[in-house]
Amino acid sequence: MSHSTHSEPSASQPRAFDTTSKLVAGVIGVLAGVGGVVVGLNKPFLNRAASAEGATIDTLFSITLGVATAVFIIVQGFLLYSIVRFNRQAGDDSDGLPIRGHVKLEIFWTAVPAIVILIIGILSYQVLADIERPKADVITVEVKGFQYAWQFYYPEHDITATELHIPLDQQVQLKLRSNDVIHSFWVPDFRIKKDVMPDRVTETFITGTEPGAYPIVCTELCGAGHAIMRSQVIVQSDADYKAWIASQKTEAVAASSGPADPLAAGRQLFNQYGCNACHVLGDAKAVGVIGPSLDGIGTRAAGIVAGQSAEEYVQLAIVKPNDHVAEGYPANIMPQDYGLRMSEQDLATMVNYLLEMK
Ligand code: CUA
Repeated sequence: MSHSTHSEPSASQPRAFDTTSKLVAGVIGVLAGVGGVVVGLNKPFLNRAASAEGATIDTLFSITLGVATAVFIIVQGFLLYSIVRFNRQAGDDSDGLPIRGHVKLEIFWTAVPAIVILIIGILSYQVLADIERPKADVITVEVKGFQYAWQFYYPEHDITATELHIPLDQQVQLKLRSNDVIHSFWVPDFRIKKDVMPDRVTETFITGTEPGAYPIVCTELCGAGHAIMRSQVIVQSDADYKAWIASQKTEAVAASSGPADPLAAGRQLFNQYGCNACHVLGDAKAVGVIGPSLDGIGTRAAGIVAGQSAEEYVQLAIVKPNDHVAEGYPANIMPQDYGLRMSEQDLATMVNYLLEMK
């Protein structure tokens, strides 16, 4: 044995990563792993799914998570074993074995993941096909997204609402479309998420299985009001759903009867056009905080812009909102296209309604 010229660590010199350190690291690792499993088993990632589709998706998710966990434990197990088994011994400066590869091993670790992913792919396809299969008694609701509110149209009843009401255990087909930019319709409790686009109609299906109210969230950054683009889906008994439909029809009739009940008509339009999403207005039970409060606007409107009557001011504030932006609020938040979207009749009804807010 020849003397090497470079310095060797002497046997008495403490190694940077000695046996005690390894033991401590190992114990911490095991405790962290056990702790993670305990937390994972007792604190679910999400609330219990409140839709039939969500339950199916959760089952798929559990299977995928189980497979991923098994792979993780196997791979990390080999890694830990190798760290311990092939750790360099004190004073051993020799090279490792000149390994060039292992064809059987390469085939094995290519084939196994391919098969696992193929199985998960087939399961995923089955789940998607299953939840997107319309049943004979499916009902349809047209969902429209616009900056920054949701609107739900029930073609069967010709009513429009700002909350999505659906009967319990009833499959509902949603046809989604955007009025402006790309939004995304998300009901976390239903595990359903679908992009909403201006140039095409997208579809998804929901079946509420637990009565209650669940948040609808826009989950595609769509502008300054993105964060407040929310609504809720109300899952209710068939009787409650029918009662709600009837009440909406009554409101719609009041709105179309025009001068007979101008306040009811204005209130209906205020909510139908999504004004309630951004403005406070006590009369319409609106609590939006993105734009200025409209309580008492009928009293204030006349003095706001010099030379404009109250009526002119309110009308221009709707159709040309950037001409005069209320102090403390940024421009370009209020949609610029109400002048195109609203019929002359609707606009007049809305202006008169707001002028009554004293
Ligand atoms: Cu609509 Cu974000």
